[in-house]
Amino acid sequence: MESTDFKLAVLVSGRGTNLQAIIDHIDQGKLNARIAIIITNNPRAQALERGRKHAIKTTFLDPDRYPDKAEYDRALATKIKEHSVDLICLAGYMRILGKEFVRTFKGEIINIHPSLLPAFPGLNVQQKAIDRGVKFSGCTVHFVDEAVDAGPIILQAAVPVHADDNAETLTQRILEQEHIIYPNAIKMIAENHIKLADGKIVTL
Ligand code: GRF
Repeated sequence: MESTDFKLAVLVSGRGTNLQAIIDHIDQGKLNARIAIIITNNPRAQALERGRKHAIKTTFLDPDRYPDKAEYDRALATKIKEHSVDLICLAGYMRILGKEFVRTFKGEIINIHPSLLPAFPGLNVQQKAIDRGVKFSGCTVHFVDEAVDAGPIILQAAVPVHADDNAETLTQRILEQEHIIYPNAIKMIAENHIKLADGKIVTL
């Protein structure tokens, strides 16, 4: 397989700075992969603009057009299969994927989360880290399994939490690391350095 045949689907809902980091790593030749499709549940996602600028195909799947979450996930799965991607990257995708979807793409979905999992799963975790008084936080890239923010961990980066931090300053410090470790985690998978076996990361 040509390395650039490693195809990604990137699922986004908002700002898209992690998407941008992936695009930049590819453009700079640091990551041999290709984004085959960007999919969103939010037509106003800034991420869409980022994709279009780089002539990447973008698709809006409207949640209002499906009777329930399961049907939406099936449409999402169909769309992804049309592009025969090797890896699905959640990059600020604000919908929880159903069990059926996760089973269909077992071992082929990764996510980036702005805390050192298993600490602080869920939302608004930068504020939660500050409120809890932790001295370090960071980010985690992990495989997605049926539990939320709990799959096998691929890479993490830690940052200090300063006494005068607010959610915004900490978010920014963590994001800088997200933009490094997410493309690196994709690279590790694309180059076959790791794989998932029996729910554990195996280094090859
Ligand atoms: C990031 O903090 C990521 O860790 C979390 O959602 C945020 C997305 O940011 N899952 P962006 O849309 O990539 O800028």
